[in-house]
Amino acid sequence: MACLWASFACYLHKDTFSHAMQAYAVDPETTAITIMKPIVHVERNYHSFAGAQYVLPSDDPEKERLALQHRVLKKMFENRIVIPPISFDAADKILDSGTGSGIFLLDLIENKTVPVSVVLQGLDIESRLFPVEDPRIMSRGNVYFTVGTVTKLPEDWENSFALVHQRLLIAALRAHEWVEALSEIYRFSLPEEKHLSLVYTLLGAKGLLRDISVHLPKMLETAGFVDVSVEERKVPLGHLGGQDGVDARNNFMGVYRGMKTPILKAGGLGFVSSEAEFDEMMDAMEKEWDDTPGAEFNFFIIYARKPRVE
Ligand SMILES: C[S@@+](CC[C@H](N)C(=O)[O-])C[C@H]1O[C@@H](n2cnc3c(N)ncnc32)[C@H](O)[C@@H]1O
Repeated sequence: MACLWASFACYLHKDTFSHAMQAYAVDPETTAITIMKPIVHVERNYHSFAGAQYVLPSDDPEKERLALQHRVLKKMFENRIVIPPISFDAADKILDSGTGSGIFLLDLIENKTVPVSVVLQGLDIESRLFPVEDPRIMSRGNVYFTVGTVTKLPEDWENSFALVHQRLLIAALRAHEWVEALSEIYRFSLPEEKHLSLVYTLLGAKGLLRDISVHLPKMLETAGFVDVSVEERKVPLGHLGGQDGVDARNNFMGVYRGMKTPILKAGGLGFVSSEAEFDEMMDAMEKEWDDTPGAEFNFFIIYARKPRVE
């Protein structure tokens, strides 16, 4: 899954803008800008990544600004850090593209938003702000920072990430680089498992909510409930999880196999073209659960209270 934040405060007053442009010649047809003469000033530190056009500094004041910006944005989005409806498995990996000071990853750790086993990877064209000496990073032991560009991710990361998070690269990427970046993010995102896609497609075709556990807390609040609580449990899946794993596997296989008729009646939804293919797909899924250490299913109990009438 990809989560891209594209907003940028762009409310320059017209006069401010024209003042800022005085050092340039602007071709009104193409809007191409030619720097006429550099103006001597006290310079800050900027990246030195070959070919990158990023125009903001990389220094301590910028690190502080990124922390401030993180707080502002987080508050605007109801203090959520991970915005898409996604829950993480123990073996998942998350990429923060254009991580800067790593403030997003640090907050994930601080707020225990994802299981501690989830590998966190930061990527940036500039390493100066990487929080590699932060005790939270060092003690977790599975947080990595790499210098590189989102327009060309390391090949061995392909199909790796359950979530790719990228925030505020508006001052960084040219039009063609956005296309390259999105294509890389697509290539390096973990594909949804085929059987899950099949079930999600069926639920979607019927207008059912596949991620109701994510939406329910907000829906309860909207309905007037207060003190919404969420309790999450992970149940092992498959025989590596002992008797609990076997029981859960048998239960959930019963759910999946029970959807055969609606799926086949809908023509296989582009996933299977015969009953035998459906059965094979289910058998393969059962085997995968049995063979995968750490395979698990998440359960949520969500409860809330109707407030007392005063
Ligand atoms: C405005 S900062 C945002 C940092 C971070 N995403 C956050 O929300 O705090 C943009 C970051 O993108 C990085 N960046 C710019 N061009 C990049 C590229 N092509 N690939 C990866 N990172 C890039 C910059 O070095 C900078 O750290």
